[in-house]
Amino acid sequence: MTWRRSSEVIGGVFDIKFYPLIVDRCEGYRIRDIDGKEYIDFNASWAVANVGYGNKKIIDAVCEQFSKTSSFSLTSYYHEKSIKLAELLLSLVPESENKKVIFGHSGSDINDGIFKLLPYATKKNKIITFLGSYHGQTYGSFSLSGHKAEGWLNPAGGVVKVPYPYCYRCPFSLEYPECKIHCVRFIEEYIFETVAPAEDVSIVFLEPIQSDGGDIVPPEEFHDRLYKLCKRNGIYYGVDEVKVGFARTGKFFGFEHYGIKPDFITVGKPMGGGFPISACIGVREVLDYPGAFHLSTIAGHPAGCSASIATIEYIKENKLDRNAEKMGDRLIKGLKEIAENRDIIGDVRGKGLIVGVELVRDRESKEPASKECAMLTYRCWELGLVLAYVGLYSNVVEITPPLVIDEEGIDEGLNIFDQALKDIVEGRFDESKVKEFAGW
Ligand SMILES: Cc1ncc(COP(=O)(O)O)c(C=O)c1O
Repeated sequence: MTWRRSSEVIGGVFDIKFYPLIVDRCEGYRIRDIDGKEYIDFNASWAVANVGYGNKKIIDAVCEQFSKTSSFSLTSYYHEKSIKLAELLLSLVPESENKKVIFGHSGSDINDGIFKLLPYATKKNKIITFLGSYHGQTYGSFSLSGHKAEGWLNPAGGVVKVPYPYCYRCPFSLEYPECKIHCVRFIEEYIFETVAPAEDVSIVFLEPIQSDGGDIVPPEEFHDRLYKLCKRNGIYYGVDEVKVGFARTGKFFGFEHYGIKPDFITVGKPMGGGFPISACIGVREVLDYPGAFHLSTIAGHPAGCSASIATIEYIKENKLDRNAEKMGDRLIKGLKEIAENRDIIGDVRGKGLIVGVELVRDRESKEPASKECAMLTYRCWELGLVLAYVGLYSNVVEITPPLVIDEEGIDEGLNIFDQALKDIVEGRFDESKVKEFAGW
């Protein structure tokens, strides 16, 4: 089998390919291709495989439940597993007495609910989101997004996008902390006064750490300042935890680092341990909005709910949040050591096991090293390390391993990364190899 056969039958709109990896089996944090070659996985299938691949607890939970209820619609029947998962999710968030849960299949369709429900239920027709954000690919969720991959599409109206606190490349050309978090003041002083009066804004919706926009970790006070601004103005605060939730950042939810109590939390990707399921945990008045207004026939399937319950239990039993924090510290330390001898690394940033390495041609001018980033990603794959790149300029190597990774896996990955980087900067890579793998 060759990857070209795939290009003959699977549409290009489905692609963000970086190299021709044809997977055979995955286990823990390792992937084997069809030729038997093994790779360390620094991607986790885009932050899905938090509990590792082939996790027996999850497989058993799915198989047992699927054999009992292979087809099921939560829209019209009840099921113990779906109720149990909703109760479990509520037990993990603040102010749960005022919240309920709805289910979806993916990050995209659950975030679509934010786009659809909030303006209707609150009778406020504006939503504020962030430039660089990625919330999905359905009409509503891409309308919320500010990611360059979707920039050419025509989004729906009512969404106002503002700068995210990308301190390495501040959109206002200011320096932290002297900026006094100008990006929040900008919302209050310009956005509320012009295109989105505070009384018309239903929700401010954002990623706690902006992932596909470049793995951007906001400064400490940012969320708190923005959250308080919302609370002063009766605006809901919503966080998209689809990528960073489920222990990736070292806490179960990314927002927990910032002492805030979001009104809406969307989760997906790792939630089912690989099984497609997503959810929104949010305030009752909105999620109880009358009518069959945001549902999907097989969302909240008991097999997916069983997988998710098992995933949450596995994360808790095995303290994967602690491991993410510990392994993330080791990874960032290792990357910073590599950066000491490699000027091409402009910035290393992250929290737990979501880490970005921003590549630049020059540390002063910060000219993005986008081509080099594509080559590095490909070279890593050739040497046995699977990862991806993201960012406004496609120049940020993203590292999001399964949270079950250990010291051996981190060190092995770092060694490969170091070697691959050396090969790129010393010109030992044939650039034409990446031509057919445009990434994004
Ligand atoms: C933060 C965030 N939200 C939503 C999505 C969309 O999720 P899905 O691809 O499952 O639709 C993604 C996907 O990368 C994401 O990173």
